[in-house]
Amino acid sequence: MNILVVGGAGYIGSHMVKHLALAGCEVTTLDNLVGGFRDAVLHGRFVEGDIADRALLDRLLREQRFDAVMHFASHIQVGESVQDPGKYYRNNVVNTLNLLDAMRHAGVMRFIFSSTAAIFGEPQTERIAEDHRQQPINPYGRSKLMVEQALADYDRAYGLRSVCLRYFNAAGADPDGQLGERHEPETHLIPLVLQAASGRRPHISVFGQDYDTPDGTCIRDYVHIHDLCQAHGLALQSLMAGDPSQAYNLGNGHGFSVNEVIEAARRVTGRDISVQYAPRRPGDPARLVADSTLAQRRLDWRPQYAALDTLVEHAWRWECRALQPVEA
Ligand code: UFG
Repeated sequence: MNILVVGGAGYIGSHMVKHLALAGCEVTTLDNLVGGFRDAVLHGRFVEGDIADRALLDRLLREQRFDAVMHFASHIQVGESVQDPGKYYRNNVVNTLNLLDAMRHAGVMRFIFSSTAAIFGEPQTERIAEDHRQQPINPYGRSKLMVEQALADYDRAYGLRSVCLRYFNAAGADPDGQLGERHEPETHLIPLVLQAASGRRPHISVFGQDYDTPDGTCIRDYVHIHDLCQAHGLALQSLMAGDPSQAYNLGNGHGFSVNEVIEAARRVTGRDISVQYAPRRPGDPARLVADSTLAQRRLDWRPQYAALDTLVEHAWRWECRALQPVEA
């Protein structure tokens, strides 16, 4: 199979490129290197460019016959999306539509989309299933929901088949240790906690202790990057088999509070981690936990690294590697 991975130099995209290449696929990465890193693309062909560039997309899609496109190139910070919604709507919505139009123009009709738990907003149930009310509370979530809605229309009108994968909290690192989470600036809890453990930062700030949760800190469902890659592989197989478009929620169905994540990091690293309590971060729901029964049933998705300590351990290995001097 020949796959175009858009955003393949980013955190999730780079793991996916490796996963596809090891599964025997031909892979091309398209990335503008705004949030991604060239050296994170370990396999296949690399094209530097932006999905806003329609001429580039047309050329790329004409040059090769891609069986499917996987799209990871988006802005992902909830807080920033509140401050600068234009950035989010332009890249995450307008530029994605540009990509979809280029695809249908070229007759590439299979698409896998990185969506998010943020499309649901404040949860109404303990675990969030696919039929949960969709009422995002920030522009980031709205930008992803708009694309999901456009995809349903593109399927009906043009026959473009898609799978939307709604990640809860993607975390962890390549179990082989070759890749890991790298954002500039880093805003995600697990890498920040581990930077506090390694000494790269003085402490971890805990955003809010007055949430309606047992210890007052926010609860999230952390899902291992390797398991997310597996889910994408299965989604691809399902599209290739001619299954209809579908959206799936991807998580482990277990929530951990910010304090519990810090405890896990202390256990795994054996280091002291200094904590500072800070006010709530705007746009954070108290609790987000997935019901992934549908993905398990229909895609036969079986997360391999559901244990929080394993996930933190893989991320820690990556953090320790990031501390090493670069080999000549
Ligand atoms: N947190 C802290 N201190 C920090 C960083 C985070 O206390 O320094 C807390 C956050 O307030 C939140 C939890 O840790 O309660 C997890 O925060 P992350 O930033 O790691 O992840 P989010 O849950 O905010 O966001 C993730 C993805 C988004 C996605 C969202 C779905 O990064 O792209 O899940 O809700 F939209």
